[in-house]
Amino acid sequence: MSDIITVTNLKKTYGDFTAVDSINLIVHQGETFGILGPNGAGKTTTLEMMEGLKSITSGTVILDGKDVTTHTRDVKSVIGVQLQSSTFFDGLNLKELIETFAALYNQEADAMELLREVQLEEKAKSMVKELSGGQKQRLSIAVALVNKPKVLFLDEPTTGLDPQARRNLWDLINQIKGGGVTIIITTHYMEEAEVLCDRIAIMDNAKVIALDTPNGLLKLADVGTTIACHVDKKVEASALKQLPNINGMEVHDQSFSLNTHKPELTLPALFTFAKEHGIALHDVQVHQATLEDVFLKLTGRKLRD
Ligand SMILES: Nc1ncnc2c1ncn2[C@@H]1O[C@H](COP(=O)(O)OP(=O)(O)O)[C@@H](O)[C@H]1O
Ligand SMILES: [Mg+2]
Repeated sequence: MSDIITVTNLKKTYGDFTAVDSINLIVHQGETFGILGPNGAGKTTTLEMMEGLKSITSGTVILDGKDVTTHTRDVKSVIGVQLQSSTFFDGLNLKELIETFAALYNQEADAMELLREVQLEEKAKSMVKELSGGQKQRLSIAVALVNKPKVLFLDEPTTGLDPQARRNLWDLINQIKGGGVTIIITTHYMEEAEVLCDRIAIMDNAKVIALDTPNGLLKLADVGTTIACHVDKKVEASALKQLPNINGMEVHDQSFSLNTHKPELTLPALFTFAKEHGIALHDVQVHQATLEDVFLKLTGRKLRD
């Protein structure tokens, strides 16, 4: 797989404050690459430096073989950047809006085809202010696709959307990826990163603290699987410790949870143990580790406090 973006020792400072601290990233052509982190981590600043929209304090970004700082125009001609819909001109309907952006980019664009791609065909004659939040986000993606970009940048595209609209946008992002576009997306939703991204850089306090595939991150943090259940009477920790492959546990009066790397061994042993000791297990839940657990393990904090 060839690389389309190489970020080397990228840094942004504002006076004494470091917003992005010497980060290194390589993005492969055709992948969906996520930057996941809490508010203030430095995601937007990183993205805007990669796009050539924000000046770089030090380090380099090479995109499609061009240095973003010295060849900003070349870079801008091969990228699509999702703008916030609030910045769209009033007084134009969706079709006119797309045609206006196409003219700005000197591009031949089939406005109706683009609107169809983002499922806004029926809204072609509507004004932006008549759209729902999810529809506005889809429109801003259509506008970002006007210049047929090789790389599409999406900055928290689903923040504030309801679950259904978020899922629709995930489908759209996967559809665009299917067309061969490389996608860089920032998010503070770990499930979004997990669902959409081939690889994820986790950012915290201006630094990239981990970078891997979703599965690789889960393995790296080594957080295991949690088995939780309710019981009628307290089960002692000393008894539970005899079960195989237990890494940790939490025991309460009417419930306990076990952490294991081998749920396929621990679970049947737990059922046998319960039967032998006359313990009724209720609401048995098996919780596989998520990126939220990875973040907690890496930083000691939750992603969203
Ligand atoms: N123009 C600016 N001047 C000073 N600090 C800034 C400026 N822009 C962003 N920051 C700070 O840089 C940090 C990273 O911001 P940002 O990249 O927007 O984070 P994120 O997108 O991950 O929420 C934040 O602490 C933010 O307050
Ligand atoms: Mg941001």
